[in-house]
Amino acid sequence: MRVDILTASSINGIITPGRGVCSHDLVPVLNPPRELWEAKYEVRRRHDAVLVGSNTVLSNDPTMSSHAAPGYEVVRATIDSAGRIPPGFRFFDGSVRTLVGVTDSTPDFYRRLLEERGVEAVPCGSGRPELSLFLAGLEERGVRTAVCEGGGILNRALLDQGFLGRIYLLLLEVILDAGSVNLFEGPGAPVPLRLEALERIGESVLLTYAKSTSSG
Ligand SMILES: NC(=O)c1ccc[n+]([C@@H]2O[C@H](COP(=O)([O-])OP(=O)(O)OC[C@H]3O[C@@H](n4cnc5c(N)ncnc54)[C@H](OP(=O)(O)O)[C@@H]3O)[C@@H](O)[C@H]2O)c1
Repeated sequence: MRVDILTASSINGIITPGRGVCSHDLVPVLNPPRELWEAKYEVRRRHDAVLVGSNTVLSNDPTMSSHAAPGYEVVRATIDSAGRIPPGFRFFDGSVRTLVGVTDSTPDFYRRLLEERGVEAVPCGSGRPELSLFLAGLEERGVRTAVCEGGGILNRALLDQGFLGRIYLLLLEVILDAGSVNLFEGPGAPVPLRLEALERIGESVLLTYAKSTSSG
C-alpha cells in the first residue's frame, strides 16, 4: 500500500513550533479559518484510515477523529512497539476503530491494555517495527488506503522505504524555528515532485504533490 501524507507546514518546512511541542499550539497564533480544517478533514475522508507517529500521539494527544461524518467509518492507527502511549490518552478512548503496530518486544501490560480497550494489535516483527508488515497488516484488516498525518520521522520512513503516495501540504503563513521538527526529518537524497493541484485557503495554500515519474 502507498500512503499519502497530509501535513501543515511553515514556509520553512517546519511542522511544530518546537520539539516535543504540540503542533496545535499554532492555532491561537494563526487562527486558521474553518475552511482550512474542512480541507484537512476532506483529505482524511478520501482514505480508509489515518496514521500518525507515536511521538505525535504523545505530544498532541489527538483524537484523529474530527473528520467523522455520516456514512464514513473513522479508523486511526499508529505504531507503538514500546508501549509509550498512556492509558488515559484519547487514542484509547474507544470512540472509533483503532489499530496499533506492536512487535515481539511490546510489553505484556500494553498488549493487555490494547485488548481491554478494543484496540487491534498489528504485528510488525521482532526488532525495529517494520513498516511493510504494519501496512500489510492494515490491508489484511480491510484498510485499503491510508493517509499519514506525521510527524517528520514517520513521514521520512514512508519516503525512504518507498511507501510514499501523494503529499497534501498545507503551507501555513508562518516561519518557525528551524531547529524544530521538519516535515521529513533527517537526511536524504533530493526527491523530485510533480505539482498536481493548488488551492488558496485564506492566507494558506493547499498543495498536492505526487512523486515525479523520474524519481522512481
Ligand atoms: N503540522 C502538522 O501537520 C503535524 C502533523 C503531525 C505531527 N506534527 C508534530 O510532529 C511532532 C512529532 O513528530 P516526530 O517526527 O517527532 O515523530 P513521529 O513521526 O510522530 O513519531 C515517530 C515515532 O514513531 C515510532 N515508529 C515506530 N515504528 C516506526 C518506523 N518503522 N519508522 C519510523 N518511526 C516509527 C518511533 O517511536 P518508537 O521509537 O517508540 O518506536 C518514532 O520515534 C510533534 O511535535 C507534532 O506536534 C505536526
